[in-house]
Amino acid sequence: MRSDQPGIPRPSSGPEPAAPVLRIEGLVKRYGTKTAVDGLDLVAAPGVTAVLGPNGAGKTTTIETCEGYRRPDAGRVRVLGLDPLADAARLRPRVGVMLQSGGVYSGARAEEMLRHMAKLHARPLDVPALIERLGLASCGRTSYRRLSGGQQQRLALAMAVVGRPELVFLDEPTAGLDPQARHATWDLVRELRADGVSVILTTHHMEEAEQLSDEVAIVDRGKVVAHGSPEELCRSGAENTLRFTGRPGLDMSSLVKALPPGSEAAETAPGTYRVGGAVDPRFLATVTSWCAQNGVMPEGIAVERHTLEDVFLELTGKELRA
Ligand SMILES: Nc1ncnc2c1ncn2[C@@H]1O[C@H](COP(=O)(O)OP(=O)(O)OP(=O)(O)O)[C@@H](O)[C@H]1O
Ligand SMILES: [Mg+2]
Repeated sequence: MRSDQPGIPRPSSGPEPAAPVLRIEGLVKRYGTKTAVDGLDLVAAPGVTAVLGPNGAGKTTTIETCEGYRRPDAGRVRVLGLDPLADAARLRPRVGVMLQSGGVYSGARAEEMLRHMAKLHARPLDVPALIERLGLASCGRTSYRRLSGGQQQRLALAMAVVGRPELVFLDEPTAGLDPQARHATWDLVRELRADGVSVILTTHHMEEAEQLSDEVAIVDRGKVVAHGSPEELCRSGAENTLRFTGRPGLDMSSLVKALPPGSEAAETAPGTYRVGGAVDPRFLATVTSWCAQNGVMPEGIAVERHTLEDVFLELTGKELRA
């Protein structure tokens, strides 16, 4: 897509870390008495960053502030090193935006809107090809408001990327999409990334975040509560599980005594054992040496890797948010 343009440096491309595409320091945003964003810090490197968080966590408010649609009550936001409000005119051609609300209410036809958007940029993508890519070919002559929700969503995505931006903000780009459109969106995000375009996206699909992103930031109650690569976050989850099978009736209380405080162990079915805690190499060694002392062969011993969803729920709790 942008193969004729030099890509922005990837984090791994050289000894110098690449300049962040986004730097948020102490961002506060209130709506009346409601504090939606509460001192949020986030530095996003080039690549794909997924912002996760429960409903109402402050993701859209943060992204809209980065897009220059909202004025911070406190703190500092820099997008590609620029101020989204003061430098709005300089940022506009360099940044693509897909709003959660669609942000478009128009009787204009889908293809017309896209062509119009393309004309505002110096080197836009090929509009018919993009329409084909996103499965919008049959609705190019349909007005925006007559498109289905998923089609509106796809058009909004097309509008965000048609100008070949350096950075794209996608607020829940796959919410409400059918599986085909979801995969087309994922492919598009991967292609953008390969072409050196940075993407900041929000999603409630943990698998999507795990598959697409270089880094994940988890936001809760207006603050970033965890940030790292999906692998780092899954490794850092405090609790992990180790499972093995052995002869039935082993004394799990004596195993727990050998393990660090806070660990637990149970026989979940005769001869099947589950050991929980901060599972690290030393923890594993303690379990195997306890087995050796007790003449137990721990068959099929395995450490279960936490999923991003486990980590998310651990950090943000399981109760529903208003
Ligand atoms: N325009 C607004 N006026 C008043 N309150 C608002 C407004 N927009 C958002 N809020 C409130 O600010 C908080 C953060 O909302 P925001 O839309 O940023 O959350 P979010 O993380 O994007 O949630 P979701 O996952 O549901 O999209 C919520 O409590 C919400 O009710
Ligand atoms: Mg939102």
